[in-house]
Amino acid sequence: AKNPVRVLVTGAAGQIGYAIVPMIARGVMLGPDQPVILHMLGIEPAAEALNGVKMELIDAAFPLLKGVVATTDAQEACKDVNIAIMVGGFPRKEGMERKDVMSKNVSIYKAQASALEKHAASDVKVLVVANPANTNALILKEYAPKIPEKNITCLTRLDHNRALGQISEKLNVHVGDVKNVIIWGNHSSTQYPDVNHATVTTSSEEKPVRELVANDQWLNIEFITTVQQRGAAIIKARKLSSALSAASSACDHIRDWVLGTPKGTWVSMGVYSDGSYGIQKGLIYSFPVTCEKGQWSIVQGLKIDEFSRGKLDATAKELIEEKSLAYSCLN
Ligand code: NAI
Repeated sequence: AKNPVRVLVTGAAGQIGYAIVPMIARGVMLGPDQPVILHMLGIEPAAEALNGVKMELIDAAFPLLKGVVATTDAQEACKDVNIAIMVGGFPRKEGMERKDVMSKNVSIYKAQASALEKHAASDVKVLVVANPANTNALILKEYAPKIPEKNITCLTRLDHNRALGQISEKLNVHVGDVKNVIIWGNHSSTQYPDVNHATVTTSSEEKPVRELVANDQWLNIEFITTVQQRGAAIIKARKLSSALSAASSACDHIRDWVLGTPKGTWVSMGVYSDGSYGIQKGLIYSFPVTCEKGQWSIVQGLKIDEFSRGKLDATAKELIEEKSLAYSCLN
C-alpha cells in the first residue's frame, strides 16, 4: 500500500474548507488509491468549529483517511506536509480599504511562508486559494526562499472551469469535450479568459470554439465579462461566495499538477513568470500549462493577437500594482 500523503488545508473551518476536506478524504484530489492525512489549520475564534469538522471527518469513516490534525498552531499544522492548500485569509469587509485587506493578508502569508519553509516537506507543493490569490502566493514565495519557486502556485482553475462551462452551455456540448481555454493573469476581474486556442471534440474531430460559436461579438464581450464576473454573480445568488466550485477546482489543480495533464490538453495555473509571453519575471500570473511527473511548464508558442496582447498586459499591470501595494504594506 502507498504511504499516506499529508495535505494541509488552512482556513479549514471556512466555506471552502468544509467543501474540500471530504473531497480530499475521498480521493478526489490525489486518486482513489492514495491514502491521506489531513492537516487543518484554523485561528483561535474558529478553533471549536474546526474541531467540529474533525469530528465529522471521523464520523464519515473515509477508508483513505489515515489521520486528522486540527490545530491553531501553524508550526504543528505545517509539519511534514507534502501539499498545502492555503484557503485561510482575511476577508474584505464592507467599508474596508483595499490596502487594509492587503496588509492583513500580507502579514498572514509572510508568517505562513516561514512556517511552511521550516516545517513542511522540502518538496511541498503549495496552492494559494485565498484572495488576493496571486499576490498572497507572491508574498509566500518571497518569504519562503527555500521552497523552490516552481512549487508555489495560485488558483485560477476555477476561472478556467467557468470558461469551459460557459462554452459548453453556449454550444450545448458536454463540458468534458471542451478544452484548452486559457485564463491569463490575475484571479480578479481583470483576468483574460481566452478562447482563441480552445476546441470542442465532436465525433472524434476537434473543431475550434471560435468557428463553432461563430459569434465574435459574444466571444469578445459577453463571454469574457460573464467569466470575469461569475464570482460576483454567485455571491448575488447565494449571498455567499463560491465554495463547492472553488473546492472542486482546487482538487483539479492539484490532481493535474501531481498526476499530469492529459495529452493535448492544457490547464490554467497561477505560476511565477519566467518572462514567457512578455510578462514581467517573478509575478505570479496565470498561464496555460501542461504538467508531467509533478512539474508544470508553460505552453509556449501560442499566437497572441493584438486584442489579446492588450488584455494580457492590462492584467499584468494590475498585478504589478498589487505587488507594490503589498510591498508598501510590509514596510
Ligand atoms: P471563509 O471566510 O468561509 O473561510 C476562511 C477561513 O479562514 C475562516 O474559517 C477563518 O477563520 C480562516 N482564517 C482566517 N485567517 C486565518 C489564518 N491566518 N490562518 C488560518 N486560517 C485563517 O472564506 P471562504 O469562502 O472559504 O474563502 C476563502 C478564501 O478563498 C477567501 O479569501 C476567498 O476570497 C478566496 N476564494 C478564492 C477563489 C479562487 O478562485 N482563487 C474562489 C473563491 C474564494
